[in-house]
Amino acid sequence: MGVMRSMYKKNVPITVMTAHDFPSAHVADAAGIDVILVGDSLAMVALGMQDTSEVTVDDMLLHCKSVARATKAAFTVGDLPMGSYEISPEQALATAIRFVKEGRVQGVKLEGGKELAPTIKKITQAGIPVLAHVGLTPQRQNALGGFRVQGKTSESAMAILEDAFAVQEAGCFGMVVEAVPAEVASIITQKLSVPTIGIGAGNGCSGQVLVQVDMSGYFPPGRTIPKFVKQYGNVWAESLRAIESYRDEVKSRQYPASEHTYPIPKEELGAFMR
Ligand code: KIV
Ligand code: NA
Repeated sequence: MGVMRSMYKKNVPITVMTAHDFPSAHVADAAGIDVILVGDSLAMVALGMQDTSEVTVDDMLLHCKSVARATKAAFTVGDLPMGSYEISPEQALATAIRFVKEGRVQGVKLEGGKELAPTIKKITQAGIPVLAHVGLTPQRQNALGGFRVQGKTSESAMAILEDAFAVQEAGCFGMVVEAVPAEVASIITQKLSVPTIGIGAGNGCSGQVLVQVDMSGYFPPGRTIPKFVKQYGNVWAESLRAIESYRDEVKSRQYPASEHTYPIPKEELGAFMR
């Protein structure tokens, strides 16, 4: 967290990436990502659920633990899932404590603006760093009418700014700003004194976050990825290629070759065959 603070002060962009298990966290950490987020996008990308509303605290904790075991340098943050923090600041703190004690992450993220200020205050006062999340908040997709860009009118842009100020005032160490016009996210960033982490929010934020499977291309063909995602790889295609080669080599008895087998001394084999 101190590292984030100093990057922010020096105007060095902060890199954030999701991970959902040991290998995905290991590779992000090895690549020098600053913050690894166990996002509740876990629901879709790792568990095959329709949306994030289905994922439970126990699901999240299992994956947080796996990520934490692989992470050496990055700061780790876990997403509080829908239903685990909205009821009261006390409920939220109890969940956040489980994320730290059982999930072994260092901070938590929750979605929402000024209505969550008392909750953010409660958690941060207990010594658990909170990353807020404003703009498009996917856990509320049913109320927002789907995955829509937020802040496209002066009024709604003002509402996001007010949310941003409120969560900053409540003590969050930074906030994700999702699906907001670039100019709006930039202006909000300039007005704040904590970092913004943009996703679909242009180049004027203090840092960026992407869902790892989206940016690395580790999803089946046909999945529509949002406009803001840049796909830097095609891990699914590489994985398919490898698995098809294995299938072919097993079918043609090319695999396993002699170098993949264990020897037995000749006399032992002779005795065995007698
Ligand atoms: O769940 C998630 O992966 C997230 C990021 C996209 C910010 O919340
Ligand atoms: Na999330």
